[in-house]
Amino acid sequence: MEEKFEPKIAAFVCNWCTYTGADLAGTSRLKQEANARLIRVPCTGRIDPVFIIKAFENGADGVLISGCHPGDCHYNAGNFHARRRWILFKNLLDFIGIDSSRLYFSWVSASEGKKWVDIVDGVIDAVRAKGPFKQYKKMNKEIEIPVAAEEGVSVK
Ligand code: FES
Repeated sequence: MEEKFEPKIAAFVCNWCTYTGADLAGTSRLKQEANARLIRVPCTGRIDPVFIIKAFENGADGVLISGCHPGDCHYNAGNFHARRRWILFKNLLDFIGIDSSRLYFSWVSASEGKKWVDIVDGVIDAVRAKGPFKQYKKMNKEIEIPVAAEEGVSVK
């Protein structure tokens, strides 16, 4: 019997809005699927694009970034900087061969527990429909540099 594919979602969330919204969903006992792993950051402006590449490299099938609504960032403009960065970065993902449709963005405030649940469940369903993300591992294999020891050269 074939096992049902359960996607792994890395969710980078800002401490002040989305994390608190996700916490509200939990304390309100709203049901949600358990496929998302939350990584709490101070602000979406703090998320380095390398974090996303690393998430895919380490087995994520999808990545979700969520923070305060525009105008609500606790560091004034962190989410505006993040939004500009992600628009450029999304195009770059396609350029380097990673399916950018596996990267999702949302704004969720501290009072939007239900919205958080709907977004996470929606992302999980969408990624489940896409299937496992294997491109990164395949790309890594293609550029693998042979280790000297495997080539018959002694390494001291
Ligand atoms: Fe939430 Fe900046 S503090 S996005």
